[in-house]
Amino acid sequence: MKVLSVASELYPLIKTGGLADVAGALPLALAAHGVETRTLIPGYPAVMKAVKAPKKIHEFGSLLDERATLLSARHEGLDLLILDCPQLYERSGGPYLDTHGRDYPDNWKRFAVLSKAGAEIAAGALAGYKPDLVHVHDWQSALVPVYMRYAETAEVPGLLTIHNIAFQGQFAASLFPYLELPGHAFYEALEYYGTLSYLKSGIVTSYAVSTVSPSYADEILTPEFGMGLEGLIASRGADLYGIVNGIDADVWNPATDTLLPAGYSAATLKKRAGNRAALVERFGLDADDGPIFCVISRLTWQKGLDLLPAVIDELVALGGKLAILGSGDSDIEAALQGAAAHNRGRVGMVLGYDEKLSHLMQAGSDVILVPSRFEPCGLTQLYALRYGCIPLVARTGGLADTIIDANEAALAAGVATGVQFSPVTADALRRAIRRTIRLYRDQRLWSQMQKQGMKSDVSWNRSGVTYAELYQRLVSKGQ
Ligand code: ADP
Ligand code: GLC
Repeated sequence: MKVLSVASELYPLIKTGGLADVAGALPLALAAHGVETRTLIPGYPAVMKAVKAPKKIHEFGSLLDERATLLSARHEGLDLLILDCPQLYERSGGPYLDTHGRDYPDNWKRFAVLSKAGAEIAAGALAGYKPDLVHVHDWQSALVPVYMRYAETAEVPGLLTIHNIAFQGQFAASLFPYLELPGHAFYEALEYYGTLSYLKSGIVTSYAVSTVSPSYADEILTPEFGMGLEGLIASRGADLYGIVNGIDADVWNPATDTLLPAGYSAATLKKRAGNRAALVERFGLDADDGPIFCVISRLTWQKGLDLLPAVIDELVALGGKLAILGSGDSDIEAALQGAAAHNRGRVGMVLGYDEKLSHLMQAGSDVILVPSRFEPCGLTQLYALRYGCIPLVARTGGLADTIIDANEAALAAGVATGVQFSPVTADALRRAIRRTIRLYRDQRLWSQMQKQGMKSDVSWNRSGVTYAELYQRLVSKGQ
């Protein structure tokens, strides 16, 4: 089966979060199931710089009045289609934001053009290539099924995966005429409370909608988590799927990870000490044996990290230490930097994004904190399981689905892999930290939990099969 995946970020070329990891790992996982994936991505500077010997394979004369060239290249096992359109993608900031953290004003066009290119490729624009299915991710490529629906050519089945419903791609209705869609597509697909919503239009026009965990699939049917789209999603009935993300178990393998000072496995957990020492030094922490908590995250309200400053005193009083890596909302950044300055030796912070350091933190810390208010899947708790770092997570979305709380029954059965808490308040988080530190003091129990986590299958094995079956079902539906 041939699948065209369309994504706005892709590990290892360009990444702001978990979407990149998933878009990069899924094609490799699905190859084993006979799925050949080509991934269409924008030609951002980081992409153009990294790929070797790209070949020109097509010229788009006009995509919303823009000329663009399509390049093909292979990169670390991925088969890429790169939309080279410098006027839209050659920017000095990130994929969505300028260097001051503001949305690019033409994001509506940047991702409509990407989607239109995807739809034209699906319709056969490239000689000798015709995908059986198009898999799109989040609002940035959600217009692909819309363009396919309103094209004169036969529609190719489309699957839309929602990685985060909080980002919907909402733009002024006055932009509609520039999207080159027929007038009736406005009310049929795009209109959302008087504006345009790219995500909504994808939900309405794709063959099926999936999200990245069963619990989140359930949650987005409620007003609390559906962010206004709950009714629309409910109207898709059985076309909604929740498939939990896996991780690339080669990139995230503590035994072979070249980014670590000390490799280890479940049988050699003591070797984690080498990583711990490097971590302590990097974050300026005291060298005592108190538990090291870490945070590797976007610093945002979604991630619940505004609650952290209120619990740091307790964490420190109980002998804990905290290493924070992240960037995001300036208020949260400032509060955490303040906490680090007040607790030298106990709290350390690196502001920014550092892939290599994130590996060391998973390998050297005892606990990763993920107190998210909502979490479609979450990947850092999965990396943590694999690295023997115990996840302390909010009981929501994919966090609830992937971590087994250390309650009495789970401990007695020997199946606990972490600590869950709810509701997401400073009080409940504080209690969970206390509970975690109590568990940590029983080192036998602790290492049993570490080993249990390291045994859990967080690879794409199971979800790869589920995606391959879903693809097959959608292709059959299209015939
Ligand atoms: P989200 O996509 O909502 O940000 P996920 O947990 O799915 O959350 O994925 C986040 C990804 O980004 C993980 O691979 C995580 O390790 C990585 N990450 C987040 N913040 C940082 C950072 N500051 N430095 C390095 N990696 C980070
Ligand atoms: C989103 C979600 C995160 C998920 C990731 C990959 O960024 O916030 O929970 O793991 O997408 O699907």
